[in-house]
Amino acid sequence: MKAIEILVKEHDSILKMIEITTILLNKEDKTTINIEHVEKVIDFIKNFADKYHHLKEEDILFLEMEKHGMSREFGPIAMMLHEHNEGRNYIRLAVEGIERFKQGDISAFAQIKENLMAYCILLTNHIAKENNILYPMSEQILPANVLSAMSDDFEKSNTNTFENEYYDKYLKLIEEFSNIYLN
Ligand SMILES: [Fe+2]
Ligand SMILES: [Fe+2]
Repeated sequence: MKAIEILVKEHDSILKMIEITTILLNKEDKTTINIEHVEKVIDFIKNFADKYHHLKEEDILFLEMEKHGMSREFGPIAMMLHEHNEGRNYIRLAVEGIERFKQGDISAFAQIKENLMAYCILLTNHIAKENNILYPMSEQILPANVLSAMSDDFEKSNTNTFENEYYDKYLKLIEEFSNIYLN
């Protein structure tokens, strides 16, 4: 699979989890919310979205684009990096909310929901910008051999995750939650 196709496929998985999260957070009221499922969503975001996906962008794709003339300090790459950090901040606050909620503070649900929903909106827009602007741009400026080496790199890193969790934990979780929340 081409490098950019791998990234777009990961976007599809993240968007599916966003759809699930929106239903999960809006379906249940704060007294019946399945906090264990919310924690699994956060774990997915931290690892699948922020580690496996965002690090492919930050450490590999954006770096190559920089080597081929694009700035990391301003313009589209700077904006994407800024949005990754904004997302991390929302997740940090949601995790804080979960801790309070688990200690019995039901009012912390508002903090969880507010920050997770803000994350979902941010990432939905972020993904649209990458799919429609940044990725096509990268395919124009990067030489074919760089893109093909990147694809090998991505494939290899996906098949070499701890306990194959990329596939066996995170992609399976999407399936599992789709059956619960999207049917
Ligand atoms: Fe990104
Ligand atoms: Fe992305």
